[in-house]
Amino acid sequence: MNLNPRNPIGVFDSGIGGLTVAHAIREVLPHESIIYFGDTAHLPYGDKSAAAVQAYSIKIADVLMGMGCKVIVIACNSASSAAYELLKEYAGKRAKIINVIDPMVAYLSENYAHKKVGLIGTKRTVSSNVYLEKLEILNKEIELVSLATPLLVPMIEEGFFNNRISAEIIEKYLGDNIFRDISGLVLGCTHYPLISKQIQRYFSDKVDILDSSEITANHLKKYLLNEGLINDIEVVKDQFLVSDYTDSFEASTKIFFKEKVKLEKHILWE
Ligand code: DGL
Repeated sequence: MNLNPRNPIGVFDSGIGGLTVAHAIREVLPHESIIYFGDTAHLPYGDKSAAAVQAYSIKIADVLMGMGCKVIVIACNSASSAAYELLKEYAGKRAKIINVIDPMVAYLSENYAHKKVGLIGTKRTVSSNVYLEKLEILNKEIELVSLATPLLVPMIEEGFFNNRISAEIIEKYLGDNIFRDISGLVLGCTHYPLISKQIQRYFSDKVDILDSSEITANHLKKYLLNEGLINDIEVVKDQFLVSDYTDSFEASTKIFFKEKVKLEKHILWE
């Protein structure tokens, strides 16, 4: 791959939630420019078919590659599970594609051999079985138990976190018997970092809460360093694109990116 270190990093998600991943990248790579694409016209991806998510992902990759992105980070777990292999093939040598699942799987295989680990995510992510398949290949005897937790995304988007209602929903899901005796819990969705402290409290700090946004950002940094692709000029110019604009999308950027950002509308299909 002949990529230019000065070029931006593309990050995409079904909506605004992937800003948690963009924010984690911003923290570890402060000199990189980020172009974020939130496919707000087609969210949620978590309830869509793999074929639909693949079609949206290809369209978004075209936009990001057209803007010169050296790397495209699939911030969305649902899109990572449905479209990573396809996007990698499609991008070829034009851009490096990074997903949020492989860095987590590598982390688990290094730290959780012979242990039991839980996973929560959307229906799309959990039903794909992709974590399980990837872990089985590495053969580290990690027992993975997973549960789709579809109420959590709308709950967080409506601002219900760190309160009694969210505590009850979290308890309902995580009280499932399958999670008994887990050592770690993978937060397999863009939105879940916002409830990680509440989940930690639910488990009385006895379970490691594994945030894929941080693990992916560190993986990206390592990749850029190894490939000589780190941007050494300190001119950061971020852009935040969405396929559909509403004031409430813009307002919720503050929840996920910790500061409000200006969204630009970029239609995917005319
Ligand atoms: N971004 C999605 C994910 O990480 C959650 C929201 C959705 O279903 O689109 O799986």
